Amino acid sequence: MPELAYLDGDYMSIEEAQVPVEDRGLQFGDSLYEVVRLYEGEPFRLGPHMDRMRRGAEVIGLNLAAAGDLERIMRDLAEKSELDTAFIYLQVTRGVCPRNHLIPDELEPTIIATARKLQPIPEEKYSRGSVAFTRPDLRWARRDVKATTLLPNIMSRSYAINRGGYDAVHYEEDGTITEGSVSNFFCVIDDVVRTHPADERILAGISRATVLECAEALDISYEERAFTVKDLFEGASEAFFSDTYSEVMPVHQVDGKDIGQGRPGPVAQELRSAFRDVVRRETGTG
Ligand code: PDD
Repeated sequence: MPELAYLDGDYMSIEEAQVPVEDRGLQFGDSLYEVVRLYEGEPFRLGPHMDRMRRGAEVIGLNLAAAGDLERIMRDLAEKSELDTAFIYLQVTRGVCPRNHLIPDELEPTIIATARKLQPIPEEKYSRGSVAFTRPDLRWARRDVKATTLLPNIMSRSYAINRGGYDAVHYEEDGTITEGSVSNFFCVIDDVVRTHPADERILAGISRATVLECAEALDISYEERAFTVKDLFEGASEAFFSDTYSEVMPVHQVDGKDIGQGRPGPVAQELRSAFRDVVRRETGTG
């Protein structure tokens, strides 16, 4: 089944899809993106992904309306690619023009999308739990906007992966934990699930919202209230990430130190199983 690209109106192989050198996405990172998971070819929560992109476009003043029906494009790409376990990457850049920091009026956005197979994470990884590494949060102050300016993210993620970790855990100067580099971060303190509020300091993950819905449905107490690195090490009985790739990934060790019992905890496991049920229900799979 083919991996496929879409570029400005046409479907083609990924190798064929080429953007001009003066695309502002390339020169300035002047662009937004989304990553949508396909389960047996069916997109999960496509609407919320597109709402998030629309909100980001408003913040940066990108004319998303000129990009056409992005939801349709993504559904068509999913259908044409006939991929099963996969993801769609969508990027909308402000467009092509001679390099100029000033944002020009009336540019045609460039629309790029790819459908790629996703290597499922082995079940053993979930049952053993993953490790994470704290990193200073060097990103900009509008992390609610899913922009392609990802240099700090790729630096901290590479740091974590090169040491056998799943992701980094970003913290601010005062020790407040924000999120991972491709994921949101949670811990359990005094039997309450805690995660940073969905303000400008983090990306409001689609998986994060799903996790909180699951907590609500299971009557698990949760609070969208920030916590620090100290709270994590001194008070957390569990920790986990959420994101489009892993859904819910338990974390048993951070910076080489055990979290709680040093193994995936019951809350993360319960939430993961509830998350899987939501996926099955909404995508009609499994
Ligand atoms: N990343 N926080 C950050 C900084 C992210 O980049 C992501 C997603 C998330 C989780 O969001 P969601 O649950 O909607 O996947 C949180 C994508 C997958 C990426 O950059 O590839």
